Amino acid sequence: DIYGSQRRNSGGPNIDIACEWGPFSAKVNQWLEHQWLGGPIINGQRLDTELRIDVKAPYDQRHLTGHMHFANAELVAQAVQVAHDGFADWHATPVGIRTQALMRLADLLEDNLEELVALCHQEAGKTIQDGIDEVREAVDFCRYYALQANDLFSAPLNRTLADGQSHSLIRDGRGVFVCISPWNFPLAIFLGQVTAALAAGNTVVAKPAEQTSLIACRAVELMLDAGVPGSAIQLLPGRGADVGAPLTADARIAGVAFTGSTETARLINRTLAARDCAPVPLIAETGGQNAMIIDSTSLPEQVVQDAVQSAFASAGQRCSALRVLCVQTDIADRIIDLLKGAMAELNTGNPCLHSTDVGPVIDRAAQQNLLQYVEQMKNTSTLLAQTELHADAAQGTFVPPTAFEIDSIERLGREQFGPIMHLVRYQARDLDTLIDQINRCGYGLTLGIHTRNEGTAAHIESRARVGNTYINRNQVGATVGVQPFGGQGLSGTGPKAGGPHYLLRFTKLSCTQLGG
Ligand code: SER
Repeated sequence: DIYGSQRRNSGGPNIDIACEWGPFSAKVNQWLEHQWLGGPIINGQRLDTELRIDVKAPYDQRHLTGHMHFANAELVAQAVQVAHDGFADWHATPVGIRTQALMRLADLLEDNLEELVALCHQEAGKTIQDGIDEVREAVDFCRYYALQANDLFSAPLNRTLADGQSHSLIRDGRGVFVCISPWNFPLAIFLGQVTAALAAGNTVVAKPAEQTSLIACRAVELMLDAGVPGSAIQLLPGRGADVGAPLTADARIAGVAFTGSTETARLINRTLAARDCAPVPLIAETGGQNAMIIDSTSLPEQVVQDAVQSAFASAGQRCSALRVLCVQTDIADRIIDLLKGAMAELNTGNPCLHSTDVGPVIDRAAQQNLLQYVEQMKNTSTLLAQTELHADAAQGTFVPPTAFEIDSIERLGREQFGPIMHLVRYQARDLDTLIDQINRCGYGLTLGIHTRNEGTAAHIESRARVGNTYINRNQVGATVGVQPFGGQGLSGTGPKAGGPHYLLRFTKLSCTQLGG
């Protein structure tokens, strides 16, 4: 059951591991004092460079998680050359052998679950449950893409026309694929991109987010242990300007998979377009200005539970997260009352503690930007509720879960990537105007609908332009293989990750006419 491993969307504790919580968390705790060391990995060798960064735990900046060595432009050129030279061998490796290594990687991730959960906690500030979900999703990506590659690429697709002529269609890797991944799913999205590219027969140069490079480094070490050759996967941790820019400008690359902000996707597009060489595909998964539409037939208690989960779980640092709750005026006061009560109950704190609901945001810069936005909003809109921070919050990068009422969706600016929710009231007769306003934001990632009227749900779904719609539940936590994930417009290019068409974009298709 490769799809059964991620957390179901219950919103409550649901420990999806084959052991008791107590012994499991004791094993995770043993890793919490460990200091990890990471760096670029080129041709199977981890390198120390002169650019050494202290990695600090987001929940407590006094805690040193480890040290990371960052790459420079010279290593970028070297890594691309190794990947370029390695393509012929990896590409010629039978797909069954390539995918065996990815299946072994999935097993190794499971074998090292406690360490990886601890590292997600110490480097990315994830709660233990979010850490478990992270590893499970990474495992699912490895197995899903490996199995799919076996189905898609094992044999050519032969077609015979009515006149008897036969054609053979062969899908192949394109060459060196660049994978640029975000810090919010530092293992799952990192490995999702990389394993898809590798399964499809490409070699990879991966540039993980600066903030979570240790996790990526550990993942590549496991990948090498699993049997992926050192010439097939190169890791280039580093700053965007030092690594991402020269990497995407390199004429030897054959494609880019990127997850992150819409602005960076545009920048990559411009860099790719400026190269004086063959055009290559860009797969971009970007942000969202995600809404949940609540009508007066919905169940208020369920709405509030799902809205709180969607907006504040993972400290709101999911591209799928709820940003604007749109409530039909008739039940708005009731929803606001319940929301205030639910937000007062949320615990912020050390994400290692069972009692913590909302951990820190990723770093000081993110915290400062979010807090500045909150202050600015306090002057221009109505503060509905703000959760109190715990006593030690100053040591970490915490942002209190906060909800504002605004008078129109059109007042929303850029996506705020943190635990901040907006609420807007709408009249039943203005439902279509509301949906059109949501569409006009330009993003199109997730949409939540809460109603007990099937006709309303169907109407909203058909008018809204989004990638993933969730009815009468929360709107985060898409399951690999079951809920292919990705949006449209400013939210990305598609194809959806964890879906049946994803691998194809990493390949080229050759058509050969057979004689006779
Ligand atoms: N795939 C994640 C989710 O569905 C978002 O990146 O929540």
